[in-house]
Amino acid sequence: MRIILGITGGVAAYKSAELARLLANQGHRVRCILTEAGARFITPLTLTSLTGEPCYGANPDQGEWRANPSIEHIELARWAELVAVVPATANILGKAANGLANDLLSTVLLATRAPVLWAPAMNTGMWEHPAVQANLARLRSFGHAVVEPGEGVLACGEEGSGKLAEVASIAEAIQVHGTPKLRTLKDRLVLITSGPTREDLDPVRTFTNHSTGAMGIELARAFRDVGAKVQLVLGGDLPAPWGVETVRVRSAQQMLEACEAHWADSDGVVAAAAVADQRPETPSSEKVKKGDGAETMVLVRTPDILARLSAVRRADQWVVGFAAESERHLEHASAKLKQKKLDAVLVNDVQGGRAFGIQVNTLTPVTAQGPQPPIGPLPKDQLAHAVVQWWALRLEARESGQ
Ligand code: C5P
Repeated sequence: MRIILGITGGVAAYKSAELARLLANQGHRVRCILTEAGARFITPLTLTSLTGEPCYGANPDQGEWRANPSIEHIELARWAELVAVVPATANILGKAANGLANDLLSTVLLATRAPVLWAPAMNTGMWEHPAVQANLARLRSFGHAVVEPGEGVLACGEEGSGKLAEVASIAEAIQVHGTPKLRTLKDRLVLITSGPTREDLDPVRTFTNHSTGAMGIELARAFRDVGAKVQLVLGGDLPAPWGVETVRVRSAQQMLEACEAHWADSDGVVAAAAVADQRPETPSSEKVKKGDGAETMVLVRTPDILARLSAVRRADQWVVGFAAESERHLEHASAKLKQKKLDAVLVNDVQGGRAFGIQVNTLTPVTAQGPQPPIGPLPKDQLAHAVVQWWALRLEARESGQ
């Protein structure tokens, strides 16, 4: 994405350097515009060094400025696919809410047709002032996004709200606000299962597998970005993704219960979880003592969550499963598709440890029409976006009766 990062005059401006670097590392092109006050907190050299792109000052005589200053703001406004102002002071919020434009950043904000995002940071009294809140409401009414500040000790020594949101959260919000929404998925509720489940033998020992939950988390992010409302049911230890409703679970039974609670409201499910197929028949509440020789443990089947959801699905709901097979993967996937009555199975080839815990992966979709062209190899975040695009196209075809 081509991002204009506006930096206004607040102590939190130093954090925008970290944000610029994070966004650049994620593959975005980032051009910074400093206001006059912003340039007192952070230098253009820091920002150009981190982004590899030009940094612009508030006025033609300040910072880098190209040959034709009279139309620079229009060029930048057109170049941007998203404009983010981080940190945003009460002053820039007030100017933008009222259409005032007297420096480069405020003129770009007025001229751009790109989505705009604000991450305000200011003293608690200023943040709570009705004028600031009214300006924010007005900016929201223009379709702008606001990443609300958090609470904490502020630079002025006061404790309260007004502290710039976490840099990682702002980066996630930029991703969401800057991604075009897909008609077939916008405002649809998508249930996603992810991660390993854990089946306890006793308070110390557990049955699990090598899944981390990374793929399901990236899918949750990708569905979120195109406008879906995602309900994630997550096993394992990875942090829940920003902006996604998440229920954390441990066992297959807990995962089933969480899914059943949301299934009737959902438009579809993507089951990316690596559910443990068995659990100890009689888990012990005390640590089981070791014996001297060979020991026997009775394992019983856990519920098949996806099969249960599929069995009670309505005609308008869709069901997508995963398959992790180490041999004859397409054959097994076709069998699974029929057995569990799925709309699609995304096949991972786990031979030689591929798929679990790695960053680059390939998924082959199998549908009633047979195996489809593989998606990838791609890093998991891009793979998830590609899967969502592929699935949205199929949903579109389904809706138009093709
Ligand atoms: O039958 P198999 O485990 O190979 O099927 C894999 C698919 O079924 C995955 O989508 C997985 O999330 C789902 N599954 C499930 N509950 C189970 C086992 C698998 O939802 N107990």
